[in-house]
Amino acid sequence: CAKLGALHKAVVLHDYIRLMDFPVGPMVYKGVYHLFYQYNPKGAVWGNIVWAHSVSKDLINWEALEPAIYPSKWFDINGTWSGSATNVPGKGPVILYTGITENHTQIQNYAIPQDLSDPYLKTWIKPDDNPIVRPDHGENGSAFRDPTTAWFNKKDGHWRILVGSKKKSRGIAYMYKSQDFKKWTKTKRPIHSRKATGMWECPDFFPVSTDKKTGLDTSYEGPNTKHVLKVSLDLTRYEYYTLGKYDTEKDRYKPDGTTADGWDGLRLDYGNFYASKTFFDDTKNRRILWGWANESDSAVEDTLKGWAGVQLIPRTVLLDSSGKQLVFWPIEEIESLRGKNVQMNNKKMEMGQRFEVEGITPAQADVDVTFNVGSLEKAEAFDASYATKPLDLCNLKGSNVTGGVGPFGLITLATSDLEEYTPVFFRVFKDAATNKPKVLMCSDAKPSTLKTDTGTDTTEKMYKPSFAGFVDVDMADGKISLRSLIDHSVVESFAAKGKTVITSRVYPTKAVGESAHLFVFNNGSQPVTVESLNAWSMQKPTKMNQGAK
Ligand code: FRU
Repeated sequence: CAKLGALHKAVVLHDYIRLMDFPVGPMVYKGVYHLFYQYNPKGAVWGNIVWAHSVSKDLINWEALEPAIYPSKWFDINGTWSGSATNVPGKGPVILYTGITENHTQIQNYAIPQDLSDPYLKTWIKPDDNPIVRPDHGENGSAFRDPTTAWFNKKDGHWRILVGSKKKSRGIAYMYKSQDFKKWTKTKRPIHSRKATGMWECPDFFPVSTDKKTGLDTSYEGPNTKHVLKVSLDLTRYEYYTLGKYDTEKDRYKPDGTTADGWDGLRLDYGNFYASKTFFDDTKNRRILWGWANESDSAVEDTLKGWAGVQLIPRTVLLDSSGKQLVFWPIEEIESLRGKNVQMNNKKMEMGQRFEVEGITPAQADVDVTFNVGSLEKAEAFDASYATKPLDLCNLKGSNVTGGVGPFGLITLATSDLEEYTPVFFRVFKDAATNKPKVLMCSDAKPSTLKTDTGTDTTEKMYKPSFAGFVDVDMADGKISLRSLIDHSVVESFAAKGKTVITSRVYPTKAVGESAHLFVFNNGSQPVTVESLNAWSMQKPTKMNQGAK
């Protein structure tokens, strides 16, 4: 995937957190959060990948340390690629990562901290008895990478990990087990595989609670759980996940079949989001998701500005009360950056009306709004042929295409005359088959910027996609909520308390800084009421000090 043009370079853009790239081994140790990420110290394009390392006490203010792992030995001389960290009781944290060997084979290695008494874990050692796992004759040495966080099986006293792979076009997660965390053997069968999904990068496998609103340790075993298997598909660079049952006896994972196990599967985020990773934060009993968004402007621009790629705001992960999907919410710590607050209540928007949210900094804001559409009578009939094609529907019915109920929502990063704007909105249909509403959510970068391609070469092209997903809500009370975190070139939007999430990267030329505006709008024939809206200016966290300590 990285070869498809991913731009991996640490950057300073996302002003809330100021550190970037794609997460490889998040964890918390002695009260300090550690984020490792794939990083090119030499440029704004993918290459020379090391494990950069940043630490934080609150997930908001970060300090960059020296890279933890970088190519230096025969077993990783051509790359230190993705992997995970596991806190092994009695041993401390162990990093498992993919090393690219002299002859470009992908193998799995481990690294351990030099000094366990150092909460910052500044120095990492790669012992000489590496690697721990090599591809066997049945495995594909050029598609065999990204070991997961390990979990412990109490019954047989073995740790287990997954390694992403493929066989022809079948995506596979191989499983390995170990008693001592050093000698790993392949289990009889992969934990799961799926035809025609291609390479499974960055797999993630963890339990969620069916009855509690807390996260679970990756090794948690017990009743009232489901498991989540997430994979990143390198062919299209999006991820999907299934929920299912992990049978610890048979060592098999069986998706529960309520959602697609393949290209139409559920996504953690329906926008610019890839190679994500979760970890269990035992200090607050929550599972946290880190995602990464690459740039959408041209590679030429990235080289000019000298950086590319942002780390998104960490999100908590819980099972939805329906049991059929996950829900995501920005970590509570982000609220500590909230500054000035403005509100809007019971404001009715007729068709074609929009209201400006004034008094905050729209280029860097947190906005949380609840809309009430009243009756769903005017909702357009849902055409079932779009059931797996929300994006086609958003492309067809943009924010200016009048509907029955919707489009309505937020207009972010806008000029006052809407020369540039990034709308995030809903459109409510009626599904004849179920007689229930079918709610479409779109985040549309197409009108976001006046900037155009600087040339015809792929490196000179802008990417201004619309992103889309359905939101599984019945709107029985006529209400739907939307929260957007807006940060200059990043808009992260959470519908219905995190049931559907979409991240867009946008590059306005005029709707920047003081000249950016924020609106609520309704372009549907049914009036829509802004029942309540809260918007905050967001402050900057402490600047990251690249290379300190
Ligand atoms: C995901 C990925 C991983 C690999 C890493 C290399 O984008 O291709 O599979 O480990 O990037 O940077």
